[in-house]
Amino acid sequence: MAVVLYPEVPSIPEGLQQLLDDVSRACFQAEGIDEALFSVRIVDEETIHRLNRKTRKVDRPTDVLSYPEINYPAGKTARDCPRLLKREYDPDSGMVYLGDCVISLPRAQAQAAEYGHSLRRELGYLTAHSAFHLMGYDHMTDEDKAKMREMEKIAMRQVQLWKDDTMTDQRLMELALEARERSYSPYSKFQVGACILTEDGRTFQGCNFENASYGATICAERCAASNAVINGARRFTAIAIVGSAGYAWPCGICRQVLNEFGGGKLRVIVGDPEGQNLQVRSLSELLPESFGPEDLGISL
Ligand code: THU
Repeated sequence: MAVVLYPEVPSIPEGLQQLLDDVSRACFQAEGIDEALFSVRIVDEETIHRLNRKTRKVDRPTDVLSYPEINYPAGKTARDCPRLLKREYDPDSGMVYLGDCVISLPRAQAQAAEYGHSLRRELGYLTAHSAFHLMGYDHMTDEDKAKMREMEKIAMRQVQLWKDDTMTDQRLMELALEARERSYSPYSKFQVGACILTEDGRTFQGCNFENASYGATICAERCAASNAVINGARRFTAIAIVGSAGYAWPCGICRQVLNEFGGGKLRVIVGDPEGQNLQVRSLSELLPESFGPEDLGISL
């Protein structure tokens, strides 16, 4: 455990402790220090407003507050100060205690909606931002800000929460081609690879795998979808698919499964067997007048 979590709101997202532990570990690794510990309070709007007023004399709510335990010399961060860190060693946990972080859940929810990414991504980012403050980073000058952002990006990439600007249709197709290598298709000998891109920038590969009882076969697209769901992803933005002949447009069942997590806006990218000459359609073009979670009053 790298984070002591104090949820002070009625309902917090599932898997939050794991997410915060993963993010904070990635931050320590990016900084090059041993695993450390800090607390994270998840609070409501009024609590963060009160704390902001009381501790920073700023009379408005905010998204995240950080209270470092260590007073780093100007221009230095945790990696430069092993002796200062040692003083905060906590024998109970066997780790250095870096300080405390407070996050407003309502604010994180609003920012996730505003930026069009998941709450998971936003909470991960706010935690990383705070972790770097607790390790001596700041964003007062443009230079410091750039340094801090770079560190946040390294950590967020490590836990696959960074929406990589370099993700292109062709790159997603390469990941589908790679997945096709793992196809288990002794009966049809038709190999298919797929790769899903999620809203928070993660990618999940899948390949078709067949069965002697033919009907038990799973297509590459649903294999990729299972891979995404077990890893906590719910919103898909694109899928690249490649077969060993022709253009492997998804079958009817897969279109329905993709509709569940991507909706009509999901981009379906197919290529020739070499993964070239890409064609792109929206799922609504491939599955018009669809039936989905919203028809049962469910919103993801
Ligand atoms: N297949 C897929 O993986 N995706 C599709 O959308 C269509 C079909 C696979 C299933 C089976 O292993 C083989 O292709 C022949 O149907």
